[in-house]
Amino acid sequence: MDKMVIKESRYISKKAKILRSVRMTSNEMLFEITLEGGESLDHEPGQFVMASIYGVGEVPVSICSSPTARNSFDLCVRAVGKVTHALHKLEPGDMIGIRGPYGKGFPIRILEGNDLLIVAGGLGVAPLRSLINYVLDNRRDFGKVHILLGCKSPKDMLFINELDSWNERMDVHYECTVDRAEPDWAGNVGVITTLIPGVDLEPERTFAVVVGPPVMYKFVIKELLGKNIPERQILVSFERHMKCGMGKCGRCQIQSVYCCQDGPVFNYEQIKHMSEAF
Ligand SMILES: Cc1cc2nc3c(=O)[nH]c(=O)nc-3n(C[C@H](O)[C@H](O)[C@H](O)COP(=O)(O)OP(=O)(O)OC[C@H]3O[C@@H](n4cnc5c(N)ncnc54)[C@H](O)[C@@H]3O)c2cc1C
Ligand code: FES
Repeated sequence: MDKMVIKESRYISKKAKILRSVRMTSNEMLFEITLEGGESLDHEPGQFVMASIYGVGEVPVSICSSPTARNSFDLCVRAVGKVTHALHKLEPGDMIGIRGPYGKGFPIRILEGNDLLIVAGGLGVAPLRSLINYVLDNRRDFGKVHILLGCKSPKDMLFINELDSWNERMDVHYECTVDRAEPDWAGNVGVITTLIPGVDLEPERTFAVVVGPPVMYKFVIKELLGKNIPERQILVSFERHMKCGMGKCGRCQIQSVYCCQDGPVFNYEQIKHMSEAF
């Protein structure tokens, strides 16, 4: 009975309060949010919520904080259209609606005990931040952790303070690159695929987790296969237009799968034959 009540409650939009809003770049803002009554969102890394503003609309957004932070959760929102621009105008104390969490996230129990190669492009670092912080909070449950991050230019980097702390850890191999930079940039310049050949990994015990813009997947997956990582150990997360978020409307369908319910996280073996997926 209890389980049924919990499941049903995921269909209902709940009132949630913005506790904190931080501008991260000219396009992205980070919101710390709490459900009314202090209820925990109870999500898994890689899941998403449907966030709504009354009278404006509703959008799917990845939960970008780790479930180990239980009293609130974070959403990183890029302003691209009507709802996301309206979200950017909200301030601490403002209320929004939250449905979810929805979808299949990263399979933590399968990842445990293995090495991880996390490849984040652009806004893809948002859902991956949830996984990365979960892994760092449970560091002994995982093997080697490699984090590769790419974005267009230094000013587009998200979560800068956290990137520095990942970089400083002795138990994480972290590298980042930008597509282009001013001469004063001392780091790597080049697309993210250029970082993969240099990673020293044992393919049979490595799970690669890749999230980024659609154009990135084809090239990154080619590099990962070239490193002999098995297809079922390459995980990707897809963004598709969504309406219901829970397998009812068909809006997010990719051939035989519903991205909202069967994904957004898939392994490459599952989706490689679906031409529409890439
Ligand atoms: C599972 C999932 C997780 C997501 N996580 C995040 C996140 O963490 N942060 C974030 O900023 N955005 C995320 N998105 C994308 C976000 O949902 C869209 O940007 C948002 O729906 C746009 O709504 P809008 O009303 O602001 O813009 P609209 O006016 O509806 O659209 C503006 C432009 O964005 C395009 N667009 C709209 N929705 C999508 C979509 N779902 N996928 C790709 N392009 C889209 C439209 O084609 C149009 O070109 C996620 C989407 C999905 C499906
Ligand atoms: S968004 Fe409705 S079925 Fe996926």
